[in-house]
Amino acid sequence: MTLEVIVLAAGKGTRMHSVLPKVLHELADRPLLEHVLDTVRQLRPARIHVVYGYGGEQVRERLADADDVNWVEQAQQLGTGHAVRQALPDLSSDALTLVAYGDVPLIRADTLRAVLGQCSGQGPALLTAELKDPTGYGRILRDHTGAVTAIVEEADASEAERQITEINTGFIACSADGLQVWLDSIDTSNGQGEYYLTDVIGCAVQAGATVCTVRCADPDEIAGVNSQVELAKSERRFQARQAEALMETGLGLRDPARFDLRGDLKFGKDCVFDINVVIAGEVTLGDQVSVGPNCQIIDSEIGNGVEIRANSVIEGVRIADHCSVGPFARLRPGTVLDSGARVGNFVETKNTTLGEDSKANHLAYVGDATVGHRVNIGAGVITCNYDGANKHPTVIGDDAFIGSNSALVAPVTVGKGATVGAGSAVTRDVPEGQLALTRAEQQVRTDWQRPKKEKKN
Ligand code: UD1
Ligand code: CA
Repeated sequence: MTLEVIVLAAGKGTRMHSVLPKVLHELADRPLLEHVLDTVRQLRPARIHVVYGYGGEQVRERLADADDVNWVEQAQQLGTGHAVRQALPDLSSDALTLVAYGDVPLIRADTLRAVLGQCSGQGPALLTAELKDPTGYGRILRDHTGAVTAIVEEADASEAERQITEINTGFIACSADGLQVWLDSIDTSNGQGEYYLTDVIGCAVQAGATVCTVRCADPDEIAGVNSQVELAKSERRFQARQAEALMETGLGLRDPARFDLRGDLKFGKDCVFDINVVIAGEVTLGDQVSVGPNCQIIDSEIGNGVEIRANSVIEGVRIADHCSVGPFARLRPGTVLDSGARVGNFVETKNTTLGEDSKANHLAYVGDATVGHRVNIGAGVITCNYDGANKHPTVIGDDAFIGSNSALVAPVTVGKGATVGAGSAVTRDVPEGQLALTRAEQQVRTDWQRPKKEKKN
C-alpha cells in the first residue's frame, strides 16, 4: 500500500494573539509546519497534502520550497473532519492515509511508523497517550474487552468520560477508502458544531472495523502549540533533544540547557561550548574548537584548534586552523581568517581576508581589505572603506605594520614590509618596505609654563 500524509494546518491559532498563521510560528528559526513536514518525509510517503486556510497565501509563500507538497485549501475552518475531507479528492483510493497536525512539531518518525504498522487496512489506527491531566483532549472510549469504541471530545464528554486519562493525540492512520466512507457519515451535531475527524472512529467501529492503538510514551512528542507559552516550552524540548543528540556524538556542552541550535551543526573531535552559545544556519567546526560564553555563530566554517572567546559574534565567516577570535569580536560576512590569524577585543571585520599569523588584536575596523601574512594591525586602526557613496578596497602586503590609531583611506595599498606610523591618515599607497607617516611634528616648548590655580579670597 502506498502511503499518503495529510497535514492539517488551516487553523488560525487565536491563542497565539498574532497576525502570523500559527503554523508559521517558529521553532529553532523554522516554521512549525516545516518541522512536521521534515518528520513525515522520513516516512517516504507517495504524497503529502497540506490543508491550509487561515493566512493561506503567507503559508504557501513561506513554504514555497516545499515542492513535494500538494496544497489543499480549506476556505472555512469547519472542523478537523471537514479539513481532511478537503484532501480526499486528491487521495488515491488505495492509499494508506496518515493524518498529522501542523502544530504538533515534536512528533518522531518512529512513533508514526509504529502507528502505520498497526493499521491493518481493515480499520483505523490511533496514536494515544496516557496523561495525568487530560484536559482539553478527546478521550478514548473502550468497551469492557478493552476495544476502542469511539473518541469523545471534551466539550461533549460526560463527567465520567472526562475522568478517562487516555487521550487522542490526533494522529490517525486509515485507508483512504475507509476515510471516504466514514467521513461521509459524520455531521456537526456536537458541542462545538464542527465536523469532528474523531467521529470517524465511532463510525468505523459501528461498521465492524477494529481500531488499533499505539500508546505514545513521551508526552513531549504529542504536545501541540496553541500559545506563546506552549511555543516556548516546545522550543526548550526541541533544544534539549538536539543538545542530547549532539552530546551523544561527542560535542561538549558545559550546560545543555543553555545552548541553542537553530540550524545545522557539524563538528569534529573534542569541541567544547561554554554557556549561552547560539548556533544558526549551517556551521561546521573542525577538531578541538572551543567556544566561550555568549557567542553567536551563524553560517560559518571553522577549522581545527580554533579558540572563539567570550561574547563574539561570527557570521558568514571562514576561519582556518589555530586562529583565535575575541573576546568581544565581531566577524561579519565575507571575513576569512587564514591559519593562525588573531582577532581580538572590539575588532570588527567585514569582507576581509586576514592572512596567516596576522593580527588585529584591539579596537579596529577592517572592512573590504586583503591583508597578507604576518601583518600587525595596531589598536584603533580603521580602514576607511566608504567615501559616503561607494566602498573601496584596502590591500596590505605581507609583514606590514600598521601603527595604532591610523586611518587607511581606501582605495589604498600598503606594500610588503611597509610601516605606517601611529596616528597617520594614509591617503596614498605606501611603497614596500617604507615608512609612511602623516602625523604633525611634535613640538617641545621650553618657554611654556603650566597655568597656576588662582587663589580665591
Ligand atoms: C483535536 C481532536 C482531539 C485531540 C486533539 C489533540 C478533533 C475533533 N479533536 O482537538 O480529539 O485530542 O486534537 O491535539 O479532531 N484544523 C484544520 N481545520 C479545521 C480545524 C482544525 O486544519 O477546520 C487543524 C488545526 O489547525 C490543528 C488541528 O487541525 O492543526 C487540530 O485542530 P484543533 O482545533 O486544535 O483540534 P482540537 O480541538 O485541539
Ligand atoms: Ca489543539
